[in-house]
Amino acid sequence: MVGVTKVARTKADLAEALGALKGTSALVMTMGALHEGHLALVRAAKKAADNVVVSIFVNPLQFGPGEDYEAYPRDLEADLAFLEAVGVQAVYAPEAEDVYPRDPLVRIDPGPMAAVLEGKTRPTHFAGVLQVVHKVLNLVRPDIAFFGQKDAQQLALIRTMAADLDMPVEIRAVPIERDVDGLALSSRNSYLSPTERIEALALNQALAVGADAAQRGLSPKEVRDVAERHLREAPGVKIDYLALVDPETFAAIDGQTFSAGGAEASPSDGSVTMQAGGAPSKHGRGLLAVAAWVGPTRLIDNMEVELRG
Ligand code: PAF
Repeated sequence: MVGVTKVARTKADLAEALGALKGTSALVMTMGALHEGHLALVRAAKKAADNVVVSIFVNPLQFGPGEDYEAYPRDLEADLAFLEAVGVQAVYAPEAEDVYPRDPLVRIDPGPMAAVLEGKTRPTHFAGVLQVVHKVLNLVRPDIAFFGQKDAQQLALIRTMAADLDMPVEIRAVPIERDVDGLALSSRNSYLSPTERIEALALNQALAVGADAAQRGLSPKEVRDVAERHLREAPGVKIDYLALVDPETFAAIDGQTFSAGGAEASPSDGSVTMQAGGAPSKHGRGLLAVAAWVGPTRLIDNMEVELRG
């Protein structure tokens, strides 16, 4: 056993556990069903701070009607054994009543960046994510919080919330962990049948085809189109979206027009302008982001591409 992990099931227990810690702290927020992707987050956190706090909470607010809140994999015992073996100082694993003693009256508005891509398909998702991230950051008050690049839009929104609300925390990203065959690790991969598991490789392959096209100097529109064509032709896969966006603002840079309501905020109100239409990335970097159904399972993936064309 590497370390003794204090497991807090309530805010009061958490406060007590945190009170016993000396030095800097890093937070890793999870919904449990821990895998190697979470391990990468915990490892990064351990390197960066004296203490690592992990939260395990399947947040009802970020699931829409008909989504997999009930079915979402839960195995607290296995998760705690996993974290005990890695060695973290504290785990906050509350019930929903502890996090939300009542339906919250004050809500975080994630703004226009939450209206596109994931937010277009899942309109209440990011409001729910930011609500719980804001709360757990307030409860733990870490110096640094780590989030995975796999949920790139979530990461960009959390960074934006921390900046816009002057939250005293540093947000750091951890690269996507992939299986040897390229499939991005996700707790939802456990839903895939053996055949679907193979079909799901098309997501990463389509992104790689797009990244290669970008390397060869193709235009942003062409980069997106070749990636989409690859995925459209893949058996067993139904595309939700495939887009080339600015990695920080999620504004489209592939000539697609986002039709999501609220995505066209006026620049005069200081919000992020999300109009699409082939605006060049100011970094020469783009993010190819995909969501697709493989059988009944919705998967997401993304890849940074270097734009030359
Ligand atoms: O990325 C996730 O697992 C969740 O969205 C998070 C950040 C733990 C909030 O519930």
